[in-house]
Amino acid sequence: MAYADVYAGWKANPEAFWMEQSKSIDWHSAPTHALNATRAPFYEWYTDSMVNTCWNAVDRHVEAGRGAQIAIIHDSPVTRTKHSITYAELRNRVASLAGALRAKGVEKGDRVLIYMPMVPEALEAMLACARLGAVHSVVFGGFAASELAVRIDDCKPKAIIAASCGVEPSRVIHYKPLLDGAIDMATHKPDFCVIFQREQEVAKLIEGRDVSWHGFQYGVEPADCVPVPGNHPAYILYTSGTTGAPKGVVRATAGHLVALNWTMKNVYNVDTGDVFWAASDVGWVVGHSYICYGPLIAGCTTIVFEGKPVGTPDAGTFWRVIAEHKVKSFFTAPTALRAIKRDDPQGKLVADYNLSNLKTLYLAGERADPDTINWAMTALKIPVIDHWWQTETGWAIAANPMGIEALPVKIGSPSVPMPGYDVQVLDEGGHPAPPGTLGAIAVKLPLPPGTLPTLWNAEDRFEKSYLTTYPGYYETGDAGYIDDDGYLYIMARTDDVINVAGHRLSTGAMEEVLASHPDVAECAVIGVADQLKGQSPLGFLCLNAGTTKSDADVIAECVKLMRARIGPVADFKRALVIQRLPKTRSGKILRSTMVKIADSAPFKAPATIEDPAALDEIRTALQTLGLANGTA
Ligand code: COA
Ligand code: AMP
Repeated sequence: MAYADVYAGWKANPEAFWMEQSKSIDWHSAPTHALNATRAPFYEWYTDSMVNTCWNAVDRHVEAGRGAQIAIIHDSPVTRTKHSITYAELRNRVASLAGALRAKGVEKGDRVLIYMPMVPEALEAMLACARLGAVHSVVFGGFAASELAVRIDDCKPKAIIAASCGVEPSRVIHYKPLLDGAIDMATHKPDFCVIFQREQEVAKLIEGRDVSWHGFQYGVEPADCVPVPGNHPAYILYTSGTTGAPKGVVRATAGHLVALNWTMKNVYNVDTGDVFWAASDVGWVVGHSYICYGPLIAGCTTIVFEGKPVGTPDAGTFWRVIAEHKVKSFFTAPTALRAIKRDDPQGKLVADYNLSNLKTLYLAGERADPDTINWAMTALKIPVIDHWWQTETGWAIAANPMGIEALPVKIGSPSVPMPGYDVQVLDEGGHPAPPGTLGAIAVKLPLPPGTLPTLWNAEDRFEKSYLTTYPGYYETGDAGYIDDDGYLYIMARTDDVINVAGHRLSTGAMEEVLASHPDVAECAVIGVADQLKGQSPLGFLCLNAGTTKSDADVIAECVKLMRARIGPVADFKRALVIQRLPKTRSGKILRSTMVKIADSAPFKAPATIEDPAALDEIRTALQTLGLANGTA
């Protein structure tokens, strides 16, 4: 069947389409219907089913006789280790971890926070929660203790599972002091913490609260899979919004299983037994969907890579992993390829490896620029597929569905909507815009299975953030257009979210940190174009009158503060001190005009500007950083 037929088939009868897809999942009790619209616009999928995620991701493959197949390969150039875990071993390890958690009181519905680097134990922790019906929330290791504390207070975990450390190429990240600091800061306290001690660092345990990953599993009864209702939350994953408070995206169990399973064949063109690699981190949605759950649900081998695209040890490391482990489909962020291209512009290192198993390269997480796509196509001689999605959706909104039909690639476009998504570009009045017209990208409700049903403990915020601007639609926060052939083009965010090295960050959250500096009277943070990371945050500071510190000292303190409060992942390294911020007469800071000036793009000062001279000051300040050259 061609893509157009599959998409039309879904559109004609979504209920039949999603019931058909549900047949690939092992149900404890199968759903009698797919969509539940009784609480619209809060839609649910497969509500009346009973199912277990861990069973579908692990046990069913063992039961089907594939216990000896490799489930997880850990390839860690930063620790110079590699090892593999079969499905049978994974089942046993997860069952005993789940048993140990249950023996300490973790039950269905309890939250468990996971703070771990790229080790297989992170996936085992996620799967052990899924086995019990506990709701995990994984926090990325590059966040600071205060960000961890915010998440602890929001999801109120009964337990925290953490590693003693993470390993970055330049240093060991001491997770335990960050964890202890976060628990001190948080109002909510977990009952206990499980610490996975790594060779690189043995952390000191706090008596009465901390238990060792290895010790606490001895002598416990392994746990069986606990069936949960289809709408039971599988996990909460925090992502950046407009304000400093992160949004707790909820993923419901049954839709997650059905949708991810569908994508593995239809989008990524892999079958049971194939090797699939997403070079991301378990702390992000890509890690949830395509390092952990998707490949395992489909019975593939997944790779947990602990390293960087460059420097561990060189720009050939991705090609080595692909060759050595016979990867068929590979998924990474454009930033990673830009980093490789910078070190190996001719792609010469590719020739050192046998990449004959690699059929397709997938890119997502940020805009894929044409130079990078062309470079990758030339170097690898395989299709390079851009696809577009978000933490909220959990899987691709638009893609080139290689398992259905390889559609012509249009460079600059993530191709076409996937079944389940009725994507529309809306004008300011909320009406569908004609092809080629730029507007807000929205998806007609209901969103498909596997997407967020709500935000954790914040139904109002969910409604306000996504469903209010365009009634009847989900607002993606991205702007773009659709061409005459139905291909989508993603051009910019419509909110204060920026994308740094494929990491989604909130400029609003960064402004809150800067504003807390005692010498800062007013501030703004914008994302400026960056050749490697796509965007890079840049702060503007207006200082209080009478400040005795030098500008350089205040900037250095602000950089330090950002690292301490949000974490190294914010990558906040630059700020400028200015006299005033450009604003409209009603006091709105002209951030998008500032971005255009910084990126040397044409801009027009809005008619409502309070003082046009403020823009000149911005330009002069930006030029000291080598930005804002040749501005119109
Ligand atoms: N734990 C702790 N710190 C972390 C971390 C983690 N898991 N991941 C990153 N950091 C730190 C880094 O050490 C760095 O700290 P520094 O300021 O002291 O150097 C900072 O956070 C920024 O990290 P990063 O964005 O990785 O930048 P980099 O300059 O170290 O590396 C790239 C540049 C391009 C190699 C890297 O950004 C990269 O691999 N990007 C691809 C990202 C990706 O796959 N995203 C997918 C999301 S879907
Ligand atoms: P995240 O929730 O971290 O996955 O970030 C989602 C956001 O990243 C999207 O809303 C887009 O702004 C951006 N994004 C992700 N994939 C793409 C893509 N293929 N092209 C352009 N932008 C993308």
